[in-house]
Amino acid sequence: MNHKPAQSEGEINTSARRIAWAKKTHDDRTRTLLAKDAGCFLHQSVSPPCLSVIAKAEGAYIEDMQGHRYLDFHGNNVHHIGYGHPSLKSAIAAQMDELPFAPRRFACRPAVDLAEKLSEISPGSLSKVLFTTGGSDAIEVALKLARAATGRHKTISFWDAFHGAGFGASSVGGEQMFRSHIFGPLLTGTEHVAPFACYRCPYGYPDNDGRPQLELCKMTCANFVRYVLEKEGDVAAVIAEPARAVPYLPPPGFWREVRKACNDHGAKLIFDEIPTGLGKTGKMFACDHDEVEPDILVMGKALGGGIIPIAAVLAQPELDIAGDYAFGHYTHEKNPVSARAALTTIEIIEEENLVENAATIGAYALDRLASLKDKHPSIGDIRGRGFLIGIDLVMDRADKLPANDLAEEVFYRCLDNGLSFKTTMGNVLTLTPPLITTKTQMDFALDTISRCLGEAERLIGII
Ligand SMILES: Cc1ncc(COP(=O)(O)O)c(C=O)c1O
Repeated sequence: MNHKPAQSEGEINTSARRIAWAKKTHDDRTRTLLAKDAGCFLHQSVSPPCLSVIAKAEGAYIEDMQGHRYLDFHGNNVHHIGYGHPSLKSAIAAQMDELPFAPRRFACRPAVDLAEKLSEISPGSLSKVLFTTGGSDAIEVALKLARAATGRHKTISFWDAFHGAGFGASSVGGEQMFRSHIFGPLLTGTEHVAPFACYRCPYGYPDNDGRPQLELCKMTCANFVRYVLEKEGDVAAVIAEPARAVPYLPPPGFWREVRKACNDHGAKLIFDEIPTGLGKTGKMFACDHDEVEPDILVMGKALGGGIIPIAAVLAQPELDIAGDYAFGHYTHEKNPVSARAALTTIEIIEEENLVENAATIGAYALDRLASLKDKHPSIGDIRGRGFLIGIDLVMDRADKLPANDLAEEVFYRCLDNGLSFKTTMGNVLTLTPPLITTKTQMDFALDTISRCLGEAERLIGII
């Protein structure tokens, strides 16, 4: 079957530009290892063939085998505290000496301490916890929990969302490449609606410089969630990222409306904060900006400090209602080393005031980027919050045609100049710096992007 899914996450790893970049950048050692990598791993979208070979990851930087150093403004959103934080490495080593594993039928202190800490830092009264090894598994736990609590199985989620690669997570996700018919039937009852995306409103409403015109659209995106809740009548949960990874922020009041609609129709609200949790958006959780408390919150990625894989599900206490059944029971559910890594990561985030740093330097970056719009006609929209930032490149501002070719050119030019990030949807330069990023590093990144964008605009004939 040769039906290719539309580009969503990351650059195209087989494009002519990628091949040319690899040819001029890689030496023989890199080429040999990349060929071995491509030979032994199953091929899938985005990688392999991989971009290059990483030999070092330290602080905000990654370094390839040839010594090219990149300021990493992607980091899969795991590197909030920077790669290889010394305090985290010693805490993990000490925990390995003290207690390396706990079979999950036994309690252990680090797991209990972590559960209590998560409850302390998360919104409202979320306090019942389960751990998994990855985000996708944690989403499955959340879906099972919502089903058990409501006696219903249907969900509402957004097109274009990503919630993980498992069958449940792919079913509520909205990306073609994870949902394709080639994988066979997904879960039933997973309804999807168009997401909030004010700059490119799927319902066709005009924006006001990237912001919603609420007097015109009357927040149709939120009303549609209510509409489907009402029509289906028996939905277990609405599941979504409170701030979308593209990125897109919700219109003001969006989550309050959806929360109300969920309450009116007996559905649970699940927030997937796997990339945004622990400070990415300049508050501990993205939903803190909206002052809306979910019934279930899912976190992962940076929780293990960029070293250890761990994710968590936090639920309201009244959802603890199915003690005779199993939601997770993952082998490493109460692994003391993972729990110690997560606890120490949160301590580092608190001690080093990293959430505040993301808020301050993120606001500074958004201001600087807004002023770059005057210089670069290809910048259609700048959006984001804290260290979740998007630069939406267009062929011209009037018709907003996505400038995918331009974005790809900028991406490789930035790599050549020591900056790594991800493109999303083909045309959005997506910056997710670690929370330790300094103003100097941010200035370097923005200067690099502006310079490379100018060169690419001239090359492609936009100016
Ligand atoms: C919003 C969101 N949900 C879920 C996941 C899945 O997490 P994991 O890769 O740990 O399974 C991701 C990973 O990128 C994500 O960004």
